[in-house]
Amino acid sequence: MPTGKKIALITGANKGIGLETARELGKAGWTVLLGARNSDLGRAAESKLRAEKADAHFVPLDVTEPQTISAAAAKIKAQFGWLDALVNNAGIVDQQDGRASVASVAAIERVMRTNFFGVVTVTQAMLPLLRKSKAARIINVSSGLGSIARNANPPWDLQWSLLGYCSSKAAMSMFTVQLALELKQDRIAVNAVNPGYTATDINQNRGHQTVQEGSAEIVRLSLLEDGPTGGFFETAGPIPW
Ligand SMILES: NC(=O)c1ccc[n+]([C@@H]2O[C@H](COP(=O)([O-])OP(=O)(O)OC[C@H]3O[C@@H](n4cnc5c(N)ncnc54)[C@H](OP(=O)(O)O)[C@@H]3O)[C@@H](O)[C@H]2O)c1
Repeated sequence: MPTGKKIALITGANKGIGLETARELGKAGWTVLLGARNSDLGRAAESKLRAEKADAHFVPLDVTEPQTISAAAAKIKAQFGWLDALVNNAGIVDQQDGRASVASVAAIERVMRTNFFGVVTVTQAMLPLLRKSKAARIINVSSGLGSIARNANPPWDLQWSLLGYCSSKAAMSMFTVQLALELKQDRIAVNAVNPGYTATDINQNRGHQTVQEGSAEIVRLSLLEDGPTGGFFETAGPIPW
């Protein structure tokens, strides 16, 4: 079993909440593996964090391209040996997504491919590396928009009831609870996090939170050695599925 330095893989780590999560884990002394689908952007993020003294390494990874996922797992195994944390952060919205009565089915498929199938494929590929950790954690970056309880009585304007995006995060919830139960005896914690409305490119920087605020709960759960499993959290505490 490895000791000492902790290692995290963060998908979609070249910008936004993923980059900030990597920055905070790097500051905490972790080795951070920056998954990014665009090499130039991945290398730029690596340089940025290294300039801040983080032990950061770009890993080519498109969550919709299975061969890049298996190549990433092989590279991590060869260069680093194991993973202590996997942060499934990469995510998209789609302009053709919309309310249940009109959302484009093709757009729903595109969103599911990245936000749900991508998460399942990456997690399954990284599980052998996570099993080598003494106490691994998987953090699925979800959204309050993925809460079925909140969708049943939405505290937001109906323009946010995006069928594809909300369904992709709700499906992520099912993955979270099923995997958490399955991996409990293996000491692998699996949780979902709502970052809250955060200023990033996904919302044209309209979010009211900073990326530090948006990544805070993800970072907290990543750093927890003996934390909860099978939960859905935001900075204020647990939220309803
Ligand atoms: N910001 C918010 O208010 C908010 C609220 C709730 C939940 N979230 C969730 O937080 C996560 C991060 O979003 P963000 O706000 O930081 O948005 P962002 O700044 O747009 O970042 C999204 C990241 O995901 C990457 N990505 C997209 N498709 C990918 C793929 N196929 N393979 C690998 N990487 C991919 C992007 O890479 P490129 O640069 O190459 O596009 C980018 O690095 C998402 O899962 C989002 O749903 C955000």
